[in-house]
Amino acid sequence: MPCNVIVGGFFGDEGKGKITAYLSLKDNPLVAVRGGVGANAGHTFTYNDEVFKVRMLPSALLNHNSRLLIGAGVLISPTILLNEIEKYNTNDRTFIDNQCGIIEDKHIKSDVGSDHLRVELGTTGTGTGPANADRAMRTLKLANEVPPLKKFITDVSSIIGETLDDNKFVLVEGTQGTYLSLYHGTYPYVTSKDVTASGICSDIGLGPKKVDEVIVVFKSFVTRVGTGPLENELPPSEASKRGWTEYGSVTGRERRSSPFNFELARRAVRLNSATQIGLTKLDILYPKSAGVKEFVKLPKEAQDFIKSIEDNVGIEVTLIGTGANIGDIVDRRNENKF
Ligand code: IMP
Ligand code: MG
Repeated sequence: MPCNVIVGGFFGDEGKGKITAYLSLKDNPLVAVRGGVGANAGHTFTYNDEVFKVRMLPSALLNHNSRLLIGAGVLISPTILLNEIEKYNTNDRTFIDNQCGIIEDKHIKSDVGSDHLRVELGTTGTGTGPANADRAMRTLKLANEVPPLKKFITDVSSIIGETLDDNKFVLVEGTQGTYLSLYHGTYPYVTSKDVTASGICSDIGLGPKKVDEVIVVFKSFVTRVGTGPLENELPPSEASKRGWTEYGSVTGRERRSSPFNFELARRAVRLNSATQIGLTKLDILYPKSAGVKEFVKLPKEAQDFIKSIEDNVGIEVTLIGTGANIGDIVDRRNENKF
């Protein structure tokens, strides 16, 4: 199991941060590396009732043994990254690739000022789209040109490769979700990069034969922020009645929601060649599952829901979130099911 990749299976905000944070404490990776777009993402997790939100650092930061890496494909907002490094005291174990692109004020201005991006597509306004456009034009500034970042710069893909050569555990954290992928999502209502497992691996310089497990994370219901199609979308009043209302961690916007979509889940499993499913927020659907840590102790309807996902998509639900805290989880990876 040396290399596990975590990706989102819907439209982002599936709870990848919580699953990553849990695995970082449980599996003790030597290296935790973030792929994905950049500062448009917000990963949230709760530990001992303290809420952590990271937009740049890997969600594995609670484990002090883990080196925290950011891959070359990820766009860095220097101020956001430096603030997180200071806030979470990760100065001595944060490393960024020398080819990470840099988001500058002009990118944010052009994202926020564009009706096409901000209004029609409902972007996060964090400048990632315009920065990736500059990257494609080969005019984007790279991390090695920014003095305050210099001391964190390294060759991320080599560290990952050497760690795997030593048979040590590497945890890879993707951002956004499958249907926000520039290539495989609901274009044009997507982000500015491919964010499926292949794209995330490319971001960090990891070849396709080096991955042992791909964990696709689904929430027990679907949410989406910004515009774009959302099948079976609930009116906000109904979402609120069900307790499904959420707000974006980067933009504060109210998230739209719909019931779990089996068809999207099946397609996401294939697009990511997922080998396991992480399912979050089961307690929102089935309050009696709150805080439960063993599958057999989940209410029968919750067990049936999980079985229906497994039957529909053909792989196992191995990690089940039953509450906000990292420890509120059913970990079935070593369960003897037969
Ligand atoms: P952009 O990535 O800021 O250009 O936004 C493009 C689309 O992706 C918009 O619908 C955003 O709301 C969505 N998006 C980007 N990042 C995230 C994320 O981390 N979670 C959820 N939605 C996101
Ligand atoms: Mg998020």
